[in-house]
Amino acid sequence: MKTTVHSGTYEILGLHLKSPLIVGSGLLSDQPRNIRQLLAHGAAAVVTKTIFPDCQKTHAEQIHVIETGLLNNTTYSKRSVADWLVVLSEFRRDGLPVIASIHARTAEALGELAAQVAQVSDCPLELGISCLHADDVDDDTPERVEAYARAVRGRTTAPFSVKLALGPGLIERARSAQRAGAQAITLSDSLSGLAFDEQGQRVMLGGVCGYSGSGIKPLVLAAIHDLRRQGFELPIMGCGGVGRGRDVHEYLMVGAQTVQVYSALHQDMFGTLQSICSEFAERCETSRREVTA
Ligand SMILES: Cc1cc2nc3c(=O)[nH]c(=O)nc-3n(C[C@H](O)[C@H](O)[C@H](O)COP(=O)(O)O)c2cc1C
Repeated sequence: MKTTVHSGTYEILGLHLKSPLIVGSGLLSDQPRNIRQLLAHGAAAVVTKTIFPDCQKTHAEQIHVIETGLLNNTTYSKRSVADWLVVLSEFRRDGLPVIASIHARTAEALGELAAQVAQVSDCPLELGISCLHADDVDDDTPERVEAYARAVRGRTTAPFSVKLALGPGLIERARSAQRAGAQAITLSDSLSGLAFDEQGQRVMLGGVCGYSGSGIKPLVLAAIHDLRRQGFELPIMGCGGVGRGRDVHEYLMVGAQTVQVYSALHQDMFGTLQSICSEFAERCETSRREVTA
């Protein structure tokens, strides 16, 4: 494991980034204006909310704050594919470092969506196929990962990452993504979580939903460390519980190439992003001084 990290340039999915800090996919990246503002406030790149053809919203989307993070029952973007294609073409025109997160009900439909995105944009992709609390994800298997990734590779040359969630068979799912042509994996999506209300009587948000934030960071760090120990070599975008500069540093030390932040930004979005960026830059500067002293 690395013991120090210095500032430099960071490359992922063909993007040359000024820092390793990318804003992950979520409600905050469902709005083009937010994406532009996040980039202006220090994000090296932003991943869009997951674009999903014919997204049906049958429940109220909610977030519930618990001691160690957030629970959410949101799934995919509320915007139509047609709307996103316009937005992505505008981002391309303006040269913005954006990664389009995409998913669909079948592998074939995901390949089609990837081809549509490639017609209007040269942005890299993140396959948001592992949202464990969505009704289309029963069991994330290596075969499912491979089918989705192959379908995308078959329809576009755009670099893509497959976003996975921690859980059984992680190394096999990661290897399936690699075999099928992914240039990176993103780890992790939210995990399955359940919480009761203050009185301990009512289950919040109607049952098992997505759990994210500081509580999942040690689990994701351990999983990345383990993937590297098992010889997995594809670039990894580490994601889970980043809220301070030192968290970014820790992800890089266990073997991630870049780092995504999401839940922490639900509190003071731009202020939090700026403080993570400046804390990380300070830590890099301190290690640089220690090495040259
Ligand atoms: C409200 C909310 C919405 C999210 N929506 C998406 C999504 O649309 N697509 C996706 O790939 N991940 C989604 N995520 C997962 C995050 O991108 C991230 O993988 C996860 O929350 C762990 O990182 P964090 O602890 O920094 O939040 C969402 C997370 C939250 C809390």
